[in-house]
Amino acid sequence: MTANEIRSAYLKFFADRGHAVIPRANLVPKEDATTLFTGSGMQPLVPYLMGQEHPQGTRLVDSQTCFRAEDIDEVGDNRHTTLFEMLGNWSLGDYFKAEQLPWFWEFLTGTVGLDPERLYVTAFIGDKKNDIPKDTDSADIWEGLFKDKGIDAKVAEIGSEEDGYDRGIKPGERIFFYDASKNWWSRAGKPENMPIGEIGGPDSEVFYEFTHIEHDTKWGKHCHPNCDCGRFLEIGNSVFMQFIKRDDGGFDPLPKKNVDFGAGLERIAAAAIGDADMFKISLLWPIIRKLEELSGFTYDQNPVAMRVIADHLRAATWLAVDGVVPSNTAQGYVMRRFIRRAIRQALALDLNEDFLELVVPVISELYRSDFPELEARETEIINVLVQEEKQFRRTLERGVKEFNKLAGAKLTGETIFLLFDTYGFPPELSLEEAHEKKVEIDQDWRTDFDKLLTEQKDRSRTATVGQFKGGLADHSDISIKYHTATHLGYKALRMVLGDHVIQRGSNITPERLRFDFSHPEKMTPEQIKQVEDIVNEYIDQDWPMGFREVPTEQAFKEGALGAFGDKYGETVKVYTAGDPDGEWVSKEICGGPHVAHTGALGEGGKRYKIKKEEASSAGVRRIKAVLE
Ligand code: ALA
Repeated sequence: MTANEIRSAYLKFFADRGHAVIPRANLVPKEDATTLFTGSGMQPLVPYLMGQEHPQGTRLVDSQTCFRAEDIDEVGDNRHTTLFEMLGNWSLGDYFKAEQLPWFWEFLTGTVGLDPERLYVTAFIGDKKNDIPKDTDSADIWEGLFKDKGIDAKVAEIGSEEDGYDRGIKPGERIFFYDASKNWWSRAGKPENMPIGEIGGPDSEVFYEFTHIEHDTKWGKHCHPNCDCGRFLEIGNSVFMQFIKRDDGGFDPLPKKNVDFGAGLERIAAAAIGDADMFKISLLWPIIRKLEELSGFTYDQNPVAMRVIADHLRAATWLAVDGVVPSNTAQGYVMRRFIRRAIRQALALDLNEDFLELVVPVISELYRSDFPELEARETEIINVLVQEEKQFRRTLERGVKEFNKLAGAKLTGETIFLLFDTYGFPPELSLEEAHEKKVEIDQDWRTDFDKLLTEQKDRSRTATVGQFKGGLADHSDISIKYHTATHLGYKALRMVLGDHVIQRGSNITPERLRFDFSHPEKMTPEQIKQVEDIVNEYIDQDWPMGFREVPTEQAFKEGALGAFGDKYGETVKVYTAGDPDGEWVSKEICGGPHVAHTGALGEGGKRYKIKKEEASSAGVRRIKAVLE
């Protein structure tokens, strides 16, 4: 089965068993301030695992794109990727172990057709300190499932983290008990690491054995399912999510016992083709093939560069699908770093000229038919990456030029910093240039560079302190008017250009408003005029501006707009121009302040006028508007 087939089959398998198929969440968590990216399937469902009722019932299934930027340095071996899809099914206080484990087993051995002889499972050994018993229920269920396949699966305790789990596997053993470091799951890891109020529970994992991979003693004397040598690959994790951490460090049971199941789609696909190299699966191999074709190198000649490029560009493409654009902050910064890193790796394959326009379409082709959100904006998505490449190549070119002017006989940390700070030229490239041009590198460059970087960071921090939320530089009368005008303009832009317009930034001074928003191309003079007319009409209509505090979910349901990347709590303040329950023209999640009536913006015969429309970054436009 291909990965796309496995995904469809999984969703169907659980839909046939009463699960509602829910859409994947955005890679940028909308209501979770704790992380930059969605990193597991359960993350968007935490409130429901904690007891809140889910509108679609107690059985849910999805395939969640996940991004773990923290794994960036692991990419290059045969199995680490930063982006992956997590197949997930959930029981919200509905079924439990007796259904979950047999279903997953049936899916793996029946639907996907994995050989049960290659499967190994683990369960929780128990935790005396926290009074959590050994999970013999799971072990018993697994024993029965193996028996059904004619396999006499023996049970063993593999020991604890302190002894390095260095016990090995005795003949016939397939079911292993591990301690909390391996068989307990929470977003923070084992029980001691969980913050107060965090949920977690014991879990039971399934591993696939690649028998052709020899154990490498670098990872321990003996091999076992959780050994990192690559012989065993975890392909699914059933978490029995049933505890919440108390403030005294102990655990309370959650109101209901849940199942939180997650499996790496790419990993199951690798098991399905029996190849331990993840990059051979149908969602990655075509990218590698394209790189081979473009560079003339084979995968075997430079697997590391090709894996990094394939992984990073696939991740960046998905970030673009979810509305991220390269920038110097937060998610945009991570995306920029990924694209630039891919381009730098491509230099090792002699791909020295623009190549993203040829590779990114290969990536989108892999997903187009299964993800309408990608198909609908495919050209725009590809363009976001292509533009960043163009910009980065200009940076590289200018950097090399400046390097030649500045480096002299000895390259210092100060020069490296200057090239980086002023021209965006990465320090690694300065070093490479120096090697190539036989310029001596100052031994202390790193210390000097770090010192200058820290100083620079302190400076920019000081500059941002004192800025108001909502982008207001002050709370003068005129700034407040511009703030209201910003809301009306946001609405008008969406009416004229479409719903893909999302606020990317806002900055207000007594002189003007500035507004950044996602939109792939330059606005025409007609569009600008239309936006102005709509705003001026709203001003003339003199709508009352008021706010109320509502649950975040309700705010979005009512059509309130937010800004990209903003994090929201349980409830939010929504400012409405008009009657929130009746006729209104603008609704936005916002902390204020605003004028009482939109008519105030037109006092003294003033009109809303867009003075400037320009690109802010790839896929993002910027307008400056005034009331004059
Ligand atoms: N939430 C579990 C995981 O991410 C299933 O592995």
